[in-house]
Amino acid sequence: MPPETIEPLPVPAPPADLAMLVELLTECVHGGASVGFLAPLPRAEAEAYVTKVVDEHAQGTRLLLVARESGTGRIVGSGQLAFEQRANGRHRAEVQKLLVRPAHRHRGLATRIMARIEEAARARSLRLLFLDTSTGPGGATEFYTRLGYTLAGGIPDYAMDPDGRLAANAIFYKRWGAGGRAN
Ligand SMILES: CC(C)(COP(=O)(O)OP(=O)(O)OC[C@H]1O[C@@H](n2cnc3c(N)ncnc32)[C@H](O)[C@@H]1OP(=O)(O)O)[C@@H](O)C(=O)NCCC(=O)NCCS
Repeated sequence: MPPETIEPLPVPAPPADLAMLVELLTECVHGGASVGFLAPLPRAEAEAYVTKVVDEHAQGTRLLLVARESGTGRIVGSGQLAFEQRANGRHRAEVQKLLVRPAHRHRGLATRIMARIEEAARARSLRLLFLDTSTGPGGATEFYTRLGYTLAGGIPDYAMDPDGRLAANAIFYKRWGAGGRAN
């Protein structure tokens, strides 16, 4: 398969992109990804979520990166950076909803999306990224450890995996230029 391109979602987003983002989210949740939803994911719930995220990306309070299959332009992966809006936290952002279609996994795509996320964070002079992931089968703790994220801890029974089973979360962070003033 040809390599994917990774770029911010265009603004305004074409309706076909929204539909592909809904498909990506639904396929991942139905495949067991613990990303805030239960399976089966109703289409209206997935659409409402995607619409909100795309609006925030357009407003600049969030970055939505999409990975597209070269040639077809099909969205096969995504990753988000939610920028902190409060004045005392503008040096940090939360990594959210890193998703790769099952057929495109294990070829380094999520690693490339995370590299682009970190590049975007540095370009904005951010100094701290954090995220949480399930420690159950729906999470990706090994993945973030491999990328050099530090485990801060976790909370038992934090959320349900898509099949309804409670699992602890694992909270990870990566920081650079630590200490001192953030501006
Ligand atoms: C986690 C996920 C984004 C990884 O995508 P990917 O493109 O396969 O990742 P990469 O190829 O860059 O790296 C995969 C490596 O990460 C590690 N890894 C840890 N947990 C993993 C998981 N649940 N799935 C895939 N890889 C995982 C493995 O070491 C794996 O190496 P391998 O391919 O040799 O097995 C993808 O599996 C996915 O979309 N999962 C569902 C959603 C999710 O769990 N998101 C993260 C929570 S925010």
